[in-house]
Amino acid sequence: MKPLDVYSTFDIDIVKARGCDLWDSFGNKYLDLYGGHAVISIGHSHPVYLKALSEQIRKIGFYSNAIKMPLQEELAFKLGELSGYTDYNLFLCNSGAEANENAFKLASFNNKRKKIIAFKGSFHGRTSLAVAATDNPSIVSPVNQNAQVVFLPLNDMEAFDAVAGDDVCAVIIEGIQGVGGVIIPDPDFLKHIERRCLKYGIILILDEVQSGYGRSGKFFAHQYAGIRPQLITVAKGMGNGFPIAGVLVSPDLKVHKEMLGTTFGGNYLACAAAIAVLDVIRDENLIGNAANLGVYLGEKLSHFTGIRDLRIRGLMAGIELEEPCAEIRRQLLFVHRIFTGSSADKNTIRLLPSLAISNREIDLFIHALSPMLIKEDEIFYNSK
Ligand SMILES: Cc1ncc(COP(=O)(O)O)c(C=O)c1O
Repeated sequence: MKPLDVYSTFDIDIVKARGCDLWDSFGNKYLDLYGGHAVISIGHSHPVYLKALSEQIRKIGFYSNAIKMPLQEELAFKLGELSGYTDYNLFLCNSGAEANENAFKLASFNNKRKKIIAFKGSFHGRTSLAVAATDNPSIVSPVNQNAQVVFLPLNDMEAFDAVAGDDVCAVIIEGIQGVGGVIIPDPDFLKHIERRCLKYGIILILDEVQSGYGRSGKFFAHQYAGIRPQLITVAKGMGNGFPIAGVLVSPDLKVHKEMLGTTFGGNYLACAAAIAVLDVIRDENLIGNAANLGVYLGEKLSHFTGIRDLRIRGLMAGIELEEPCAEIRRQLLFVHRIFTGSSADKNTIRLLPSLAISNREIDLFIHALSPMLIKEDEIFYNSK
């Protein structure tokens, strides 16, 4: 048997990782500015994380949700404190798609409706309803096409108002569109959506799978708009590589026993990983670091030409070039040994590094990128 051939991969065999560095089997060192699709939040192999996981597995690695697990309570408490959602409840599962799937179920169980509003450019995962609410027909199979999903243009209040009425179950929106190319929703649009959802009993689901967990320079990207959605989904950075995801559920929503469930979700090891992540984010002020370094990155890049648009919030960055970015990304990887990400927009390089990177790593990236893009004012740039 061989692995199913569904991924386009680079022929690089990574055998070791520390912080934001990776090493291949030949001993070559790489700078990781992508974190495996935004997963590495506190840095690879962080000592606090290693200690928590290794101590936990020596005690017990897994038991199912048939028993009470104090680690789940500790995780929920700490997540509530750090995110500002102390009064919400946490459902634990295993992946971003599964979190969104459960959020849809919670919404529909509550208002008994079926219609969903999603946005153009969205990505919500690859399971049945999550993929139906993803704006990419090439990954939606015929069996996923039965859902009642309407795709609307982002930031268009009129288009939204024309559809968002009392027959709509849920609106799902990313805190910042990631796969779509780091597209930041207008805060006024988010406020407008929230108001309209409350008026018509529509449940607002904020997908913070990629933009959450401090990546944007706030715990959640939607907190820039000052809204409080009824459901928030998290995954990726939550476990720093250990599969864990969750749905933060407003206390107004009704739940009952057996409404949701999962075998693996919230197991001991996953909770130990997620608690270590929250402790490190808090103790090392990684949210503040993400905010500051996003500003630093934006300032450095603002002196380049060859860049059509810069969309940066914390350490979630979309660098839209004048031309397709594939060749530049290839050179960054194979000449400078820097991992970056792509997006649905072929011109946009996506950076999603660990929240613990420093100015030094950004300088390395700028240094590698600068000969590939023409500088607007070399003297001004060099004097910075
Ligand atoms: C915004 C968003 N939601 C959901 C998902 C799906 O997460 P997973 O791949 O863990 O199922 C992703 C993955 O890229 C994502 O970016």
